[in-house]
Amino acid sequence: MAQEAVIRVEGVTKQLPLGKVMIDALRGVDMTVYKGEMVGLVGPSGSGKSTLLGILGGLDAPTAGRVEIAGIDTTRLGEGRMTEVRNENIGFIFQFFNLIPTLTALENVMLPIQFARKRQFNPAKRARELLKLLGLGDRMHHRPSELSGGQQQRVAIARALANNPPLILADEPTGNLDTESGKLVLDTLRQIREESGTTVLLVTHDPDIAAGMDRVLTLVDGRIVEHNHVPVA
Ligand SMILES: Nc1ncnc2c1ncn2[C@@H]1O[C@H](COP(=O)(O)OP(=O)(O)OP(=O)(O)O)[C@@H](O)[C@H]1O
Ligand SMILES: [Mg+2]
Repeated sequence: MAQEAVIRVEGVTKQLPLGKVMIDALRGVDMTVYKGEMVGLVGPSGSGKSTLLGILGGLDAPTAGRVEIAGIDTTRLGEGRMTEVRNENIGFIFQFFNLIPTLTALENVMLPIQFARKRQFNPAKRARELLKLLGLGDRMHHRPSELSGGQQQRVAIARALANNPPLILADEPTGNLDTESGKLVLDTLRQIREESGTTVLLVTHDPDIAAGMDRVLTLVDGRIVEHNHVPVA
């Protein structure tokens, strides 16, 4: 059986304004990521990793080229439809967690379930299950400021998983964590992949983390070169 592509990118370019000139942040990216893969994305600072993730997640539009997520061509979707596609198909994990400070862990995780157009889960029940799975059963009613960095990132993972998306996009999710917390985050993502076949694309500067991925893509100057070994990031 042919492998199912969760991300398919063809000829994606992105120009961004820098003062009066335009810079080429992405210069023709082609890539395919298949269902259930855990793929690392590495490359020097400024090489376009976050720009690419933003385009994959529909937070930003490419200048040219085509993006397909879970078989849906997202390049020409309007903003409303894109938001729906994102909410149903993509979980984001960021370097700085991006939790809502006034909400508890439980409420942060419930939010995307409450916003889903096709609600698959009972928000409170699902959020409790995910937080327990992530070892935060006794921290559900804490606010982000009352949690450690590693705990906040696990809440962010629970939130990313809330609607059981086929794809997780993670931009340096362990960048602000100590080695131990970073390892826990990765173990959790691996476990989710085993259980649900979730696909993970993860940006990292850490060669040890990249080494734990199935495959590593290197972005240099807005272009991708595929590697199976661990390049120096
Ligand atoms: N909003 C923006 N406006 C103008 N230029 C931008 C903007 N965001 C990023 N850039 C530029 O686009 C290029 C790619 O940036 P990007 O943030 O994607 O890099 P990155 O690979 O994620 O780097 P890092 O590892 O430091 O996070 C850089 O040259 C950056 O200066
Ligand atoms: Mg970045």
